[in-house]
Amino acid sequence: MSQRIAVCPGSFDPITVGHLDIIKRASSLFDKVIVLVVINPNKHPSFTPDERVEMIKEAVDGMLNVEVDLYCGLLIDYVRNIGAVAIVKGLRAMSDFEYEFQMALTNKKMLPYAETVFLTTTANNMYLSSSLVKQVAMFGGDISDFVPRCLHNRIKERLFCSPETL
Ligand code: PNS
Repeated sequence: MSQRIAVCPGSFDPITVGHLDIIKRASSLFDKVIVLVVINPNKHPSFTPDERVEMIKEAVDGMLNVEVDLYCGLLIDYVRNIGAVAIVKGLRAMSDFEYEFQMALTNKKMLPYAETVFLTTTANNMYLSSSLVKQVAMFGGDISDFVPRCLHNRIKERLFCSPETL
């Protein structure tokens, strides 16, 4: 029987424990999960695409059916080329819903056989976002509950700006 592959796309700038929770849960639902760092030319990320891929690889180390890839282009083209059956997204709150719903319907229109699967975030992670994590790290706050343990120091050191330098 063919493998059921899911793609978990995002900016992951950087990956948070919320992302990691969704990836873990997706990996128990599908034969293979590809975490896809998607380059968005309209965004100005703090980490380079290669850094984001490297950090995710560290965070998913040991998850045997999870791979990490980098992509610039239309998501459905990647999904089609790789033979995936689903796109997995995490939903935190109603505020995520409208945009996610719009993307899911647009993707469905373009590639009808691929389903978008929404996993509700774990209650503990409802408030988490990469941009808030970056703000906390930038001003020297404690991000240990927000990002995978193996990446704490790397993210802290990379983003910390002493107020005198601002
Ligand atoms: O983590 P993000 O930034 O919310 O992820 C958004 C992402 C990467 C999933 C979305 O922007 C995307 O799918 N980009 C690829 C380009 C594309 O296919 N756009 C049309 C979506 S309907």
